[in-house]
Amino acid sequence: MKTYIKADPWKVIEPAYEAAFQKISESLFSIGNGRFGQRANFEETFTGPTLPGNYIAGVYYPDKTRVGWWKNGYPDYFAKVLNAPDWIALKIEADGVVLDLNHWNIERFRRVLDMQAGILHRQAKVSHSSGGSLSISSQRMCHKNRKDLGALQYVIEIGKGIKNLKISSYLEGDVTNDDANYDEQFWEGYETGIKNDSPYLAASTKKTGFRVGYALRNRISINNRAIKDLVDDIDIKRAGQLVSLAVKDGDRIVIEKYVGIKSSRYVAENDIITEALAEAQQADSSGFDTLAKEHSQTWSDNWAGSDIVIKGDDKAQQGIRFNIFQLHQTYSGDDPRLNIGPKGFTGEKYGGSTYWDTEAYCLPFYLSTAGAEVGRNLLVYRHQHLEKAIENAEKLGFKNGAALYPMVTMNGEECHNEWEITFEEIHRNGAIAYAIYDYTEYTGDQEYLLSKGIEVLIAIARFWVQRVHWSKPKECYVMHGVTGPNEYENNINNNWYTNYIARWCLSYSADVLDRISRGEGDLGRLKALTNISPEEWTGWRKIGEQIYLPVDEETRLILQQEGYLDKEILPVTEIPHSERPINQHWSWDRILRSCYIKQADVLQGLYFFEHHFEPDTIRRNFEFYEPLTVHESSLSPCVHSILASSLGMRDKAYEMYLRTARLDLDDYNNDTEDGCHITSMAGTWLAIVKGFAGMRMKKGRLSFKPFCPKNWEGYNFQIRWREQLLDIHVDQNKITIRNQGPAFEMLLNDSKYRIPQDQTQNIPL
Ligand code: BGC
Repeated sequence: MKTYIKADPWKVIEPAYEAAFQKISESLFSIGNGRFGQRANFEETFTGPTLPGNYIAGVYYPDKTRVGWWKNGYPDYFAKVLNAPDWIALKIEADGVVLDLNHWNIERFRRVLDMQAGILHRQAKVSHSSGGSLSISSQRMCHKNRKDLGALQYVIEIGKGIKNLKISSYLEGDVTNDDANYDEQFWEGYETGIKNDSPYLAASTKKTGFRVGYALRNRISINNRAIKDLVDDIDIKRAGQLVSLAVKDGDRIVIEKYVGIKSSRYVAENDIITEALAEAQQADSSGFDTLAKEHSQTWSDNWAGSDIVIKGDDKAQQGIRFNIFQLHQTYSGDDPRLNIGPKGFTGEKYGGSTYWDTEAYCLPFYLSTAGAEVGRNLLVYRHQHLEKAIENAEKLGFKNGAALYPMVTMNGEECHNEWEITFEEIHRNGAIAYAIYDYTEYTGDQEYLLSKGIEVLIAIARFWVQRVHWSKPKECYVMHGVTGPNEYENNINNNWYTNYIARWCLSYSADVLDRISRGEGDLGRLKALTNISPEEWTGWRKIGEQIYLPVDEETRLILQQEGYLDKEILPVTEIPHSERPINQHWSWDRILRSCYIKQADVLQGLYFFEHHFEPDTIRRNFEFYEPLTVHESSLSPCVHSILASSLGMRDKAYEMYLRTARLDLDDYNNDTEDGCHITSMAGTWLAIVKGFAGMRMKKGRLSFKPFCPKNWEGYNFQIRWREQLLDIHVDQNKITIRNQGPAFEMLLNDSKYRIPQDQTQNIPL
């Protein structure tokens, strides 16, 4: 755990340079706009430990699979979001000495991510052993509404002793990925040049052939006097301009870079450079201040619909805002081809690909804060991949249009290549079906379910009925050889969570088909498309009802999997602190044989299907499984927090909340340097809205069971729900609901309340 980030309600602050934590800070201070993102690498040369990262949405490379022992059915490649050409690069030489914070003496340093305005700032006062000193201050943004624009301003003040400053401001195409299976270069087909005083660079990804084009407008001034005669600085993989200046103590040099970044995902290849040039030129005519104002205005609109205000706890406030900020930086929901990688635009890990995280964790956040359309795009993404999911299942031997959605994907094809996950962690199919249910319940939009959603459900149901088999001794259907959400158990039989969600998928899909056959949808179209028949879905229902659910007869505990209680059961508190996290200290063999649970598994099921269980059952299982959970997946504490809230275990709920909210800011799992845990950030939001405020959907009504953690004065959040825009405030004594929409009826602690149009209601708790 680290504690070097200073608490502040709206800012992430590194008050002094922490060389050992540079890569962590590069992740934490990342910026992005849903279309591209940039780690907080320094603009100027830096030879210390760094993970350069500039990522463009949807631009990936299929890196040839590398495994120790090949298994039939493994995918050929792992899709990787690429570290794309560098748009922030500057090289500063002071009297011939390259400015490099790894070598210069840092007298003062401060890095600030202003989450309210969406701007990254850095200030430093530095000196060199040769005697020269200078101050730098930079700010930059990935523009929120000009989605293809990066802009930065970099100010140098000459301290003393420097006579000459050489500045090179450029686009660098010679970039690599840290994670490359065969140490390959992923870019080719470079084109560089200068047009209308704007350097440009284009390059294509190998194999996938995505083309990206960057164009740069440099604006450099000294003491407010614009410098016109910049010298071209063009190479095969780089394009920029440079200038050499005679300087004296106190001089102020301002460098502004406006960079248009276009990709063939959105622009015809032949137009990429022209469009990038136009983007950069327009930005240059607007100027940095105007751009910053526009950008901050859009951020302020984003905050207006999604901020959570916590009174009386700056650390918790910073935590939740940081999470919301990163989620908005990662996905804006305007393109159903895009999704939310577990690291977003903050690192290479997980390849920038899509996991079940999106459906299980992120969807509710975007539904409530960005609206139904954005949530729907996340569903459409999977619908677009249905054919590939069917092919994926066929590769594994499934028939009749059964679909197995990939564990990890960029374009619908499976990328994951560990058999115990690729072939066995099949519960992901369940989350994809659950998201359709979740979306429908929340939005009330039946149209998606009855047209597109049902196509996905049919294919998923067909998978489950083939994946189970009849057990003679048990006289029911069983599912062997699976990995549940708890990846610290592999190849197990009858994982309760997987069996339960499979059962639910079968009955839910059959229910929806019943509705369609009663005239709510177009059964004829579905029959023509999928050959579905009432006999088939009636069969699913029967199979579903007979899927085995392991429960211990004596204790009535749900069993994570058959035989779980045969393990040596010892609480996590028995593991010496020096051996945590166990995945960094224990052999895999020891982890697999232990009782320790990586992330919510049975509890994940009780969270999804809370309404199917008595509170007593949930409590019994929570009390048993929580002490055995090591939470070594960032996705875990939020689920425990929500359940603890609904069980009235408020201290536990708060403890788990803090763990998810500040997971990256405090580098809780010692892995933030690889990037931030973006998908679990939605879990932080869930821990407040579904946890502390107890928001649920109950028979088409919005329902709350709120409480306020004891060390908070109160908290406030906004949600969009159907036609409503609600502002909800909870303090120790009451809930206040401001309804900026038509009158509606909601449930509060299970009693009905009517909230009139455009009014604010105070209801005592
Ligand atoms: C978790 C998975 C998750 C993946 C990406 C893993 O550590 O166990 O559930 O999908 O990370 O976030």
